[in-house]
Amino acid sequence: MMLLDDKATTARVLWKRQWTPKLLSFRIARDAAYRFVPGQFARLGLRKPNGSLVWRAYSIVSASWDDHLEFYSIIVPGGQFTSLLNSVATGDEILIERQAYGFLTTNRFTDGRDLWMLATGTGLAPFLSILQDEETWRRFERLILVHGVRETAELAYREEIVALRKHPLWAEHGERLIYQPVLSRDTHGDALRGRIPALLASQALEERTGIALTPEHSRVMVCGSPAMVEDTHRALIAKGCRLSRLSAPAQIAVENGW
Ligand SMILES: Cc1cc2nc3c(=O)[nH]c(=O)nc-3n(C[C@H](O)[C@H](O)[C@H](O)COP(=O)(O)OP(=O)(O)OC[C@H]3O[C@@H](n4cnc5c(N)ncnc54)[C@H](O)[C@@H]3O)c2cc1C
Ligand SMILES: NC(=O)c1ccc[n+]([C@@H]2O[C@H](COP(=O)([O-])OP(=O)(O)OC[C@H]3O[C@@H](n4cnc5c(N)ncnc54)[C@H](OP(=O)(O)O)[C@@H]3O)[C@@H](O)[C@H]2O)c1
Repeated sequence: MMLLDDKATTARVLWKRQWTPKLLSFRIARDAAYRFVPGQFARLGLRKPNGSLVWRAYSIVSASWDDHLEFYSIIVPGGQFTSLLNSVATGDEILIERQAYGFLTTNRFTDGRDLWMLATGTGLAPFLSILQDEETWRRFERLILVHGVRETAELAYREEIVALRKHPLWAEHGERLIYQPVLSRDTHGDALRGRIPALLASQALEERTGIALTPEHSRVMVCGSPAMVEDTHRALIAKGCRLSRLSAPAQIAVENGW
């Protein structure tokens, strides 16, 4: 790792995995001093051919103890950052701000029994880190991860999510994790069909998971497109939930995926 300035450093790309032509994951080396709380995001930079820098926010997928940082990205056709990212190879350098950011963290909630994590697309990323945090498994009786995508091929990390149940740190509580895929334009196995807000309103998510979503017991984190976050927030308000604030802890924490 090379010193860039006080605010950012460069880190080598260690690994890249393509899920579909427009979805990929990558890992970069982690500076020993880099600290984050599961659910937070990093700011990554890439240099354009003209020498200028493009910076974008990226939720961290990794566990807080990993010696690398993993990210899960969409490739936006013509997107400034992701067009560059698409051609980044193992061994190349990416810039990273030294500080992690964000409030989509479980310490937003002071109580609660069940943790619902509602994601669409790459909004899955922060929950992968949260689910590798021992504290998450200790604090909540049920961890319900709902991932909504268009098609089956976009259900990235499916095997890794199921394998999380067997992690030695919490294997005795492995059954706490419920993983519910949602497909909007496809059908597959046990995936529900539709969009998350509608599946909340119809109670289909609760019926399928066998868990009631209530203001008393449920704490809900939401990450996806701005429209998904807005519609899901509204569906949760209809169930009596409220946005959790530092001054007034409640049930909902949200983050827009762009
Ligand atoms: C807090 C935060 C965390 C983020 N975490 C991630 C992450 O973990 N993975 C990730 O891929 N992106 C993430 N993003 C989005 C990311 O910062 C960039 O927007 C994305 O990399 C595209 O950059 P771009 O320059 O190619 O296109 P941009 O010019 O930034 O975006 C162009 C358009 O592409 C669409 N778009 C952007 N990001 C996404 C996305 N993730 N999924 C679907 N459509 C999108 C939107 O319509 C947007 O207007 C996050 C954004 C924020 C604010
Ligand atoms: N994924 C593809 O195959 C594809 C193809 C062409 C273009 N794109 C473009 O690429 C970008 C990202 O696509 P993406 O599929 O990764 O992300 P996305 O458009 O955010 O969709 C991801 C999932 O979220 C659902 N969704 C969309 N709006 C929602 C809302 N308001 N409330 C709840 N759920 C909602 C989608 O359902 P719906 O299917 O019902 O929208 C889909 O299941 C978009 O700009 C898209 O137009 C994607």
